[in-house]
Amino acid sequence: ARRVGLNMPKKETRQAISAAADHLNALQTVVFPTETVYGLGALATNSLASSRIFSTKGRPPDNPLIVHVSSSSMLQALLPPGYTLPPTYHTLIRRFWPGPLTLLFPRDPIKVPDIITAGQKTVAVRMPSHPVARALIALTGIPLAAPSANSSGKPSPTTAQHVVPDLGGKLGIILDGGPCDVGVESTVVDGLGEDGHIRVLRPGGVTVEQIEEALREEGGDHRVLVHKRDYTDEAMEAVPTTPGMKYRHYSPSVPVVLLQTRPPPNGVTAPSTTAYFDSLFRRREHGPALKVGVLCLDDSPFGRQVRALQHPQISVFSLGPANHLSVAARRLFDGLISLEQQQGVHFMLIEEMEERDEGLAVMNRVRKAASETECIDTSK
Ligand code: TXA
Ligand code: MG
Repeated sequence: ARRVGLNMPKKETRQAISAAADHLNALQTVVFPTETVYGLGALATNSLASSRIFSTKGRPPDNPLIVHVSSSSMLQALLPPGYTLPPTYHTLIRRFWPGPLTLLFPRDPIKVPDIITAGQKTVAVRMPSHPVARALIALTGIPLAAPSANSSGKPSPTTAQHVVPDLGGKLGIILDGGPCDVGVESTVVDGLGEDGHIRVLRPGGVTVEQIEEALREEGGDHRVLVHKRDYTDEAMEAVPTTPGMKYRHYSPSVPVVLLQTRPPPNGVTAPSTTAYFDSLFRRREHGPALKVGVLCLDDSPFGRQVRALQHPQISVFSLGPANHLSVAARRLFDGLISLEQQQGVHFMLIEEMEERDEGLAVMNRVRKAASETECIDTSK
């Protein structure tokens, strides 16, 4: 793989992006930075080019791809002729584009090949804000299909260094734009329903609270419905959701345990933090070589307790303060990848956090990464 660093003078940066655009126009794939995660891009209007994304990632063919545009005119050109946007989309686009929000649009079957949408009648589109992503799409001159640049099922990469051990051997060009700012993927929403409501199919970089606020400021009575939380009646369940979310996802090769640290309900007993780790390290099968990675908040009771243990077999990875969950979003995938690759841990524990703001997207990824849940009583 040829890696092209972008921490260099402007001219070289332009040349690197231009070489990547040529590579894309030759129907090859390119890894590029976005503000959310690194993407594995290919021409969205070309079936052969897009098929390389599926083979490189080992991606199931029924999981559709997001199409990335660099301008409103590029979006217009993708849509069916004469299509007018729902009023909510004007608001969302004005507020959140370019940025980590993906919107569903009706698919024009002539412009968008089948392989992109995996048989859906809609196509998912977003306009990334990362300058390298924007420049790459604009120079290529064609929208880019791009899933996260990881093999299917693994955590999404937030640095170019994350991509190399996972996909490196299969890649031509990786554009290195440094660490991603947002750190979780875009929010995928469907606002095409007759009722005019916004359905959040995948929580992500733009929070539900931010979408609600934007719509509220616009007046109108548009609601924001979150899959699993609001889709309660049968009609709602029948609304097509995001096919990708049914797969197990975001998992390192080692087991991941979600740690519940809320006070347990009456009658349920959970061990204290000290007792939990005591019994973990005492189990015979584990032995003194066991290394545990712990992803936790800086200032939560559990975060403080686990740090105070100063246990040589525990590697603590900080997810930032409880009142700035955007830090947890930025750091989560780096924690999952680097605890395994650099610290060589045998399994990981992730402290649960509140499902508000960026915490909703973080907990969505954590639940998919974790194979088990255990409880700790931090009040003991
Ligand atoms: O932030 C992001 O969105 C990143 C960067 C690279 O832009 N891309 C990304 O792509 O996360 P991917 O392929 O890992 O996730 C795309 C998600 C999947 O859950 C997929 O099922 C959903 O979007 N999706 C795509 N097209 C859809 C459609 N027509 N209807 C419903 N869901 C769709
Ligand atoms: Mg992905």
